[in-house]
Amino acid sequence: MKQKVGVVGCGLMGAGIVEVCIRSGHPTVVREVTQDFLDRGVKRIDDSMERAIQRGKLTQGERDAARARLTPTTDLGALGDCDIVIEAITEDRAAKAELWRAIAQVARKGSLRATNTSSIPLSSLAPYTGDPERFMGLHFMNPVPVMKLVELVRGIESTDATVAEGRAFVEGLGKTTILAKDTPGFVINVLLVPYLCEGVRLLEAGVATKEDIDQGMKLGCNMPMGPIELLDFVGLDTTLAIAEVLHGEFGDPKYAPPPLLRRMVESGFMGKKCGRGFYDYRGAK
Ligand SMILES: NC(=O)c1ccc[n+]([C@@H]2O[C@H](COP(=O)([O-])OP(=O)(O)OC[C@H]3O[C@@H](n4cnc5c(N)ncnc54)[C@H](O)[C@@H]3O)[C@@H](O)[C@H]2O)c1
Repeated sequence: MKQKVGVVGCGLMGAGIVEVCIRSGHPTVVREVTQDFLDRGVKRIDDSMERAIQRGKLTQGERDAARARLTPTTDLGALGDCDIVIEAITEDRAAKAELWRAIAQVARKGSLRATNTSSIPLSSLAPYTGDPERFMGLHFMNPVPVMKLVELVRGIESTDATVAEGRAFVEGLGKTTILAKDTPGFVINVLLVPYLCEGVRLLEAGVATKEDIDQGMKLGCNMPMGPIELLDFVGLDTTLAIAEVLHGEFGDPKYAPPPLLRRMVESGFMGKKCGRGFYDYRGAK
């Protein structure tokens, strides 16, 4: 019998995590704040599975079976009988802490508790989870159904059994893992986010157009996407939040978010997920 999973947040990442869980046979509850956000998140999952069918990666029967395993809800209490709870809400320390305080009230004793945070130190969330020994980071990559890696993060209090259980769970989803200590940004984003910010700084300084910056890294360094395109894909708001965490924690100017990134977020240009970032996706299918 596969563990029952609860995912909190059904944005870019939550929807992807839910999709891989239900496709791997896990009964899964997903919780959003409002019915509107929940409907949008579930549509994201449905659209992604439809694309998988069109590409021949999934049959209609498998999709229907996966869909039958999903329970969308706005009720946090529905997480009460989950074996694993994964938090994938906005990259905001205070919001995550408040949510974990609420999850701790409803979560089953002994359940595995994980955050998908990109950068926030686990030790700043662990005290709110109700069980710091059973808490760890499961940092999935975007898009979750496609990307092979999950970065496991071991909190200061996470036990060996917790980390082993988290690893076995994501390996069961077909993922490969790396293990990081509880340090801001772990491995992936300490490397990735300064690179993305440097791309914005080049643009800000007028060194090259966004198209040429992206083309340069694609054709010159064999990256599947250039930094500006990748920023749109990750989400400008999420990247800004990660850069702020890294800059705040390390105090090193190399992590400081470029003013242009901040201006874009303030103006509502969050990237592909909202139709506009550095590029315009409003006409795209
Ligand atoms: N975007 C990426 O490429 C990426 C990659 C790896 C990890 N992450 C991390 O995953 C997390 C989510 O990022 P995202 O890109 O999916 O963001 P997103 O903005 O696409 O989605 C966040 C979702 O969380 C929901 N939410 C906020 N508070 C909530 C609550 N209390 N209960 C339920 N839902 C709530 C929002 O309504 C929104 O739908 C962040 O911690 C981010 O750092 C993001």
